[in-house]
Amino acid sequence: MRIILLGAPGTGKGTQAKLISDIYQIPNISTGIILRKQIKKNKKIKKIIESGKLVSDEIVISLIKKRISQIDCKTGFILDGFPRTIFQAKAMQKEKIKVDYVLEFKLSINQIIKRITGRRIHLKSGRSYHIQFKKPILEGKDDITGESLEIRKDDNILILKKRLKEYKFNRILLMNFYIEEKNKKRLKYKVIDANEKTETITSKIKDIISKKY
Ligand code: AP5
Ligand code: MG
Repeated sequence: MRIILLGAPGTGKGTQAKLISDIYQIPNISTGIILRKQIKKNKKIKKIIESGKLVSDEIVISLIKKRISQIDCKTGFILDGFPRTIFQAKAMQKEKIKVDYVLEFKLSINQIIKRITGRRIHLKSGRSYHIQFKKPILEGKDDITGESLEIRKDDNILILKKRLKEYKFNRILLMNFYIEEKNKKRLKYKVIDANEKTETITSKIKDIISKKY
């Protein structure tokens, strides 16, 4: 079960990736989370992420190749935030990394803004919360460790606009590539209404995977 989650910032990819990974016991691979963990020691990556631009294809592809070659990915994986460019998608294909499902999350700009500006994260674990939609048990604290939550440096309107621009720029090529793959019956491609409740989306994804539609 190899699943790719596509979608603009704040559409809920990370939230669903975690849930699906727990349900099906497959690794949740988020390039955003992996890269953010490197921010402290890698100033170059920090600068790119915080400016809303994309990290180079070369860095991200090598990171994914290494991760997917690990034993726990044998039965499948869920990719959150990769591929993000047509070059990344083609690199995956060249490496013969098969994909079964491509799920594209869609959400209105107003909702994206609400979700991004209210998000709080626990950097070490990648757990994410929302001040309105997913409150932690104790305000400002991670439910598991009790450590303080943070606001991502790229979670502000100015940088969000840049991230959305990057997404729009790459989206069409990426979609066309996967729709062509779908037409060749190599994978399933589904659009997800990301405006629904978290549980509803998870259940729809489960339906897609169990071939209900
Ligand atoms: P990344 O971390 O992947 O960020 P992103 O794609 O912008 O997506 P987000 O993490 O912002 O949103 P999400 O869809 O995961 O939403 P979430 O579930 O958290 O990438 C960050 C940066 O890293 C990039 O800009 C780039 O620089 C670099 N990078 C990463 N991958 C790369 C690649 N492949 N190539 C090059 N560079 C790369 O939800 C958002 C909020 O909404 C949360 O607070 C959540 O609690 C809430 N929420 C979720 N679902 C719902 C719901 N159904 N109802 C109500 N609230 C909800
Ligand atoms: Mg995310």
